[in-house]
Amino acid sequence: MTEEVWWKRGIVYQIYPRSFQDSDGDGIGDLKGIRSRLDYLQWLGVDAIWISPIFVSPMADFGYDVADYCAIEPVFGTMEDFDALIADVHARGMKLILDFVPNHTSEQHPWFLESRSSRTNPKRDWYIWHDPAPDGGPPNNWVAFFGGSGWEWDEKTGQYYYHAYLREQPDLNWRNPAVRAAMFNVMRFWLDRGVDGFRVDVMWHLIKDAEFRDNPPNPDYRSGLPEVASLVAFYSTDRPEVHEVVREMRAVTDEYDERILIGEIYLPIDRLVTYYGEHLDEAQLPFNFQLVEDGWDAEEIWNSLNDYEAALPNGGWPNWVLSNHDKPRVATRIGRPQARVAMMLLLTARGTPTLYYGDEIAMENVAIPEQHVQDPWQTSEPGDFGRDPQRTPMQWEPRPGSGFTSGAPWLPIAPDAADYCVARESGDPASMLSLTRRLIELRRAHPALSVGRYAALGRDGDVIAFLREHEGERFAVVLNLGAKQRCFVLPDGVAGTVTLSTLDGREDEAAGGALDLRGDEGLLIRLG
Ligand code: NOJ
Repeated sequence: MTEEVWWKRGIVYQIYPRSFQDSDGDGIGDLKGIRSRLDYLQWLGVDAIWISPIFVSPMADFGYDVADYCAIEPVFGTMEDFDALIADVHARGMKLILDFVPNHTSEQHPWFLESRSSRTNPKRDWYIWHDPAPDGGPPNNWVAFFGGSGWEWDEKTGQYYYHAYLREQPDLNWRNPAVRAAMFNVMRFWLDRGVDGFRVDVMWHLIKDAEFRDNPPNPDYRSGLPEVASLVAFYSTDRPEVHEVVREMRAVTDEYDERILIGEIYLPIDRLVTYYGEHLDEAQLPFNFQLVEDGWDAEEIWNSLNDYEAALPNGGWPNWVLSNHDKPRVATRIGRPQARVAMMLLLTARGTPTLYYGDEIAMENVAIPEQHVQDPWQTSEPGDFGRDPQRTPMQWEPRPGSGFTSGAPWLPIAPDAADYCVARESGDPASMLSLTRRLIELRRAHPALSVGRYAALGRDGDVIAFLREHEGERFAVVLNLGAKQRCFVLPDGVAGTVTLSTLDGREDEAAGGALDLRGDEGLLIRLG
């Protein structure tokens, strides 16, 4: 294998801890459960696990409201469970990435309890407090992500505090050096315990406009979109001063060997790439959500691939994501047949892939009956913005509880879980799981597919094609992003044999010149 660092070579697997594996029958996944599934993850072939927040939390936003950054939420287990998990992960040569939620705490965090206790409390300035506007209303027009004003009135001290998300999630004031110092110590606490890096929640939110100016209206807003989209978050996010904070975070991880920062950043490409840092001294992987956000259209995807490659700073390493706990699952967005093509794209594009748990078995979003709704966004704003459908329990076995729990699961299990589960799919060479595992195996065996050079071959209608190359080994990836049969003409000098099709058969078939692709077919071709 090549010399490249693990996070360039490797594949990240995201675990939503409430839904991966329950070990104690309370219907909620936990750390012991994750530990008991490491064999599976190793068999699948992923390199690193990112676990969504496991810290003490009142669960207003399911762990993204942290009340103690340095302790494990009892529903997930204990610090001993965590230490045992990380030891086992490392013993398998794998890495563990934690979710770091620096933008806001829980309203129950002792820092906030102090901060709201009086205007003169030493922690007052750890959060963002502001006097009312002259009319007594909120200081400005900023809208919270889950709807409504981003400002909450505090009767006792007669000021508003800002919360980019729920009112139970007050934003920290990252302009305050004491906040930075405290949060950097939180990072060191986990780095000292051996974690290999952090996925940093809403990295682009950390600093707000010093003058708290109103956000401008969004000219592209249309009904059906959440209220937060009615404004362009110009003054509340992506402020120039945020980069200094990210550089400081990076300096903390750089006190240790080969640790990584993955930034959660929803911005257009030209803004996103600024989070690599002018001197590649910010996040190693600012999450690239284009495949999540784009329509599944060959032209759009093709432009995304190439615009992204062109926008990357010198030495900046790309990354790709298909789904996560905030967005509808890929199999639901584009259908199961195309999800196979998408998986081939994810695992052959240049850059570190992040695989969302369950996508490897073609899990779909699950409709959640009203009485089972958990996500606060589903109830805080009219519309259908709830994220429960993509957070349902992992499907392991064809039996009640799906092998996920012996109790009542916290969210309903998919009605088709008996057909789409690990036990069934692992024995079926045509399953999504077999395809994913084979793609991972090939990616691990051939550095061309992980760290190799990328070159565009071209697009013809629904078909996109590119090359990957490393030390004389070359592959072509040809993907039909449509459901109809298509022909793609490989350029002169690009010929070889099919290594893998997303559909059955064709392995070892000669490929060169005019290449027929079935609907929903992707081909990986080893060039001779
Ligand atoms: C982004 C997280 O991914 C999402 O789940 C959460 O609700 C918000 N940040 C607030 O932390």
